[in-house]
Amino acid sequence: MNFTRSDFPKGFLFGAATSAYQIEGHAFGHAGRTHWDDFAATPGNVIRAEDGARACDHYHQWPADLDLLQAANFDTYRFSTSWARVQPEGRGAPNPEGLDFYDRLVDGMLARGLKPAATLYHWELPSPLADLGGWRNRDIADRFADFTQILMSRIGDRLFSAAPINEPWCVAWLSHFMGFHAPGTRDIRAAAHAMHHVLLAHGRSIEVMRGLGMKNLGAVCNFEHTSPADASEASLKAAATYDAIYNRWFLSGIFKGTYPAEALAGLLPHMPKNWQDDFPTITQKLDWFGLNYYTRKLIAHDAGPWPHVREVEGPLPKTQVGWEIYPEGLHHFLTTTHRDYTKGLPLFITENGMANADVVTNGAVNDAARIAYLDAHLAVTRRAISEGVPVVGYYTWSLMDNYEWSLGYEKRFGLVHVDFETLQRTPKASYHALARALAR
Ligand code: FCB
Repeated sequence: MNFTRSDFPKGFLFGAATSAYQIEGHAFGHAGRTHWDDFAATPGNVIRAEDGARACDHYHQWPADLDLLQAANFDTYRFSTSWARVQPEGRGAPNPEGLDFYDRLVDGMLARGLKPAATLYHWELPSPLADLGGWRNRDIADRFADFTQILMSRIGDRLFSAAPINEPWCVAWLSHFMGFHAPGTRDIRAAAHAMHHVLLAHGRSIEVMRGLGMKNLGAVCNFEHTSPADASEASLKAAATYDAIYNRWFLSGIFKGTYPAEALAGLLPHMPKNWQDDFPTITQKLDWFGLNYYTRKLIAHDAGPWPHVREVEGPLPKTQVGWEIYPEGLHHFLTTTHRDYTKGLPLFITENGMANADVVTNGAVNDAARIAYLDAHLAVTRRAISEGVPVVGYYTWSLMDNYEWSLGYEKRFGLVHVDFETLQRTPKASYHALARALAR
């Protein structure tokens, strides 16, 4: 890597991120069924109809996985907790094995000197709640508050940080408007409801955690740098609409108590009743904000119904999932988020990384492309810091190859290669490079 720990401010934290359904193995430990199991069981949704039943078997192999984090000289680990593992029915009685699992996991991090950074929800909604309308149903916010109470009463005393929901855009828009993720809905009214309820649930969860006396609470959103694909007035407008829905809706909701006009232009008629009244809950004070950043999009006008947006393929080098590599976009979001919304709040990069077609050859994985990707994004991070943006930590996605949602197991985002037949872990060159850069 082109940097070492000493090139960053003292106390800057480095970590890796994962999520529950993508690594644990949901068939183990009496976890409940989730809408990802249902989505994956429906032909055409996921490559080879793969699901998270076994995944990386982290449920059993977690001690060795935490050893890998420690040996890479990471300071912190961003993990998530499965709602359906803790409350198999989504409400009511908790599953003691689920609570025990997260309890052991947190203690395991502390024993290895890793700061536990928890995300409560990274997408595996319990199926019984999906039956009741899931994120379309306002009741989800109170159910999520109950889940928060149950889980955090058990592990909240030992966490370094906590965030309620990973990437509200994916929970709401990708899953209810575009239909690419569970529950695979393509419906504007469902999407508008989910766009609002996801933030209401965020707010209710923060309230509960404050009530428990927890500190260092934040939110994690994802961002895609957006540019018009051509100079036409119509494409400028399309890009602004895309940017409002993707990059500004959640920030505006949480930090300004309003939604962007370009997004309301289409969503207003479909919003849940009295949505404006929920902003006191949504805008509660946070202690930090997390940005997930991977790529950019070129957007052109589309003649169909609102939002009139169409993605156009760009010319930049692409990763294994076809995402253009554009580090400047991360610099853009760090500076604009600080300037326009968070205004001094500590910022974390909570996810950043790339998929690569990695193969093990003689026990080694040469992922030079990933080393270059991480280097480039950490370079613009340093630049933002030198310009006064309070970035305090960086988590790479992901510790190990895992279940990449509708793309199944073939897209590899890990620092550690996983053979999905044998479950053998093999640290890649990027893992070794990071371990050297982060040596204390
Ligand atoms: C993010 C998700 C994460 C993973 C990466 C590649 O949007 O949070 O689970 O899928 O993308």
